[in-house]
Amino acid sequence: MANLRTKYLGLNLKNPIIVGSCGLTNSVANLIEIEKKGAGAVVLKSIFEEQIMHEVSRTVAAQNDAFYYPEAEDYISEYTKQHKLQEYIDLIKEAKKAISIPVIASINCTSVGEWTKFAKEIEQAGADALELNIFVLPTDPEKTSSEYENNYFNILEDVKEIVNIPVAIKTSLYFSSLAKTMVKLSWAGVDGLVLFNRYYSPDIDIDKMTMTSTNVFSKHEENALVLRWVALLSNKLKSDLCATTGIHSGDDVIKQLLAGASSVQIVSAIYKKGFDIIPEMIQEIERWMDSKNYESIDDFKGKMSFDKIENPDAYMRIQFMKYFAGIE
Ligand SMILES: Cc1cc2nc3c(=O)[nH]c(=O)nc-3n(C[C@H](O)[C@H](O)[C@H](O)COP(=O)(O)O)c2cc1C
Repeated sequence: MANLRTKYLGLNLKNPIIVGSCGLTNSVANLIEIEKKGAGAVVLKSIFEEQIMHEVSRTVAAQNDAFYYPEAEDYISEYTKQHKLQEYIDLIKEAKKAISIPVIASINCTSVGEWTKFAKEIEQAGADALELNIFVLPTDPEKTSSEYENNYFNILEDVKEIVNIPVAIKTSLYFSSLAKTMVKLSWAGVDGLVLFNRYYSPDIDIDKMTMTSTNVFSKHEENALVLRWVALLSNKLKSDLCATTGIHSGDDVIKQLLAGASSVQIVSAIYKKGFDIIPEMIQEIERWMDSKNYESIDDFKGKMSFDKIENPDAYMRIQFMKYFAGIE
């Protein structure tokens, strides 16, 4: 019988399927269900820098209406921040009591700041690891790529100084040199890289002339982009790779493992098909491993990565003339 155990961030996972950070990982009842359905680990809903600050300003604004005391503002800000954080700390503590699979906390952050001290509290609450969802869209033409990229290194350095638990970065692909930045992050000591974060996509309602959002959930086809980069990077990094975006089936998981990922994260697949997609994926992986006589993940992990295949150019090819030639 196939053994799906894998190691990610130094943690022992019973299988490589991690439920990624989302609204479904925000309640203990769901976490229990996720464990019951067989997931290898879970990433909690992110606590957002902005979320905390938004909450603070809303509370302050509400208080401002009738009786405004400037001294009260500081008190309310501090109280609200602590309250929001306390909710998150409680979620970690309750999760650790309720389930035995690894619990990875998540912070969504954009720069070094006050929030880094939360990382210690997250560790003390019992989180097994911390995923940093770092992203600033590099839109300012006055700023150089290194000004944007240094942010990642500064945050990592600060957080690694504060905590002893493993730290992963969930990253974008908006880098002037993606490969070099990933390698440098790995040298800088990040324990895992989660490729890639998927962002809110802006859209325009042409009748109402308003901004809307589109494509909240991924499609299966989106995992090709991740597959390319997992395969290209997996033998060049000291850190583990976790593939995410567009992973909707057991086959999708197998491909990322073959490319060299240690684990995968799934979110949209669960929103679309429910928690039962987890055991379905596990069964698909087991069936495939049995059919290939693979006993463990290590038997095939990275077997189809850039450095291992005969025609690595397949991962480098980006011009489509050859593919589309003859398609009229
Ligand atoms: C409803 C929803 C909420 C999400 N919330 C978070 C979050 O709080 N933090 C985070 O890092 N990613 C968040 N994500 C992104 C997912 O973790 C994941 O990276 C993305 O959906 C791509 O994976 P998928 O193709 O399996 O959906 C969210 C995604 C969705 C659909």
